[in-house]
Amino acid sequence: MSSLAQSDLLPVSPSAASSSGGVLASLRGVEKIFGNSITALAGLDLDVREGEFLSLLGPSGCGKSTVLRLLSGLSQPTRGTVDWSNGRPELGFVFQDPTLMPWSTVFSNVWLPLRFRGVSRTQAQARIDEALDRVGLTGFANAYPRELSGGMKMRVSIARALVTRPALLLMDEPFAALDEITRTKLNDDLVALKCALGATVVFVTHSVYESVALSTRIIVMAPRPGRVVAEILVDAPLPRNEEFRLGKFYADRCRETSQALHGAMESKPLASAQKV
Ligand SMILES: Nc1ncnc2c1ncn2[C@@H]1O[C@H](COP(=O)(O)OP(=O)(O)OP(=O)(O)O)[C@@H](O)[C@H]1O
Ligand SMILES: [Mg+2]
Repeated sequence: MSSLAQSDLLPVSPSAASSSGGVLASLRGVEKIFGNSITALAGLDLDVREGEFLSLLGPSGCGKSTVLRLLSGLSQPTRGTVDWSNGRPELGFVFQDPTLMPWSTVFSNVWLPLRFRGVSRTQAQARIDEALDRVGLTGFANAYPRELSGGMKMRVSIARALVTRPALLLMDEPFAALDEITRTKLNDDLVALKCALGATVVFVTHSVYESVALSTRIIVMAPRPGRVVAEILVDAPLPRNEEFRLGKFYADRCRETSQALHGAMESKPLASAQKV
């Protein structure tokens, strides 16, 4: 596996080439100003490409969650456009907190998105079994959230996002609260899942190491207002293993990503930015 040159830390170009497919979603000139006049995003250009594992990396408050919410349709831009090549695909959203219903079993929690669509318990059974199998929770359908570890709760949350068989998985710091061993295991399982399902993933993280281990492309964002300041291609096939994480290629990408993140944190607020 050859090491990439400094030129891989590309100037920001929303349509730069990568090993992934065509453009799935295209954000152009996106601005998001909240009612309290906070400019969360300004002049944001970003493409999401079919089949990629894209990480959004940046300091707290730079607008990563806001980008996910715009992609999900939960929120609309104040200015600019969010376009989908073939309409917004079926998507799953995994939040930082597992947000499970404590009074419901694992089965019922995973059933929820299908229930909202009028799918009966019986009709949903096979899909729920499949989703639980995929996240390694076979046999836990009747357990309650209080009986599960933090990592298992997050697996339930991922199963709930997978049960609709999404083509696009949006994940907002899903493993931030977990210990490193659990996190590494879930990272590996997530990449295996992504490969098995052929889904596109947009993943928010604060962790340089996690972003390089998981992603095929990393977008580094800066705050005040939130914008894209660097793009790093991690041009190595998925899935990756422990050997990858111990190798020079990984170490080099981590260093470049870390430098880009530091640059983002030191970047000056734009003159037109309002309080962030
Ligand atoms: N509903 C809202 N109303 C007002 N301001 C908001 C709202 N949501 C986000 N913001 C503001 O927009 C900016 C970006 O928020 P966002 O949650 O997208 O950041 P983030 O990069 O996800 O941060 P973190 O890493 O801490 O989760 C912040 O300054 C935040 O205070
Ligand atoms: Mg956030």
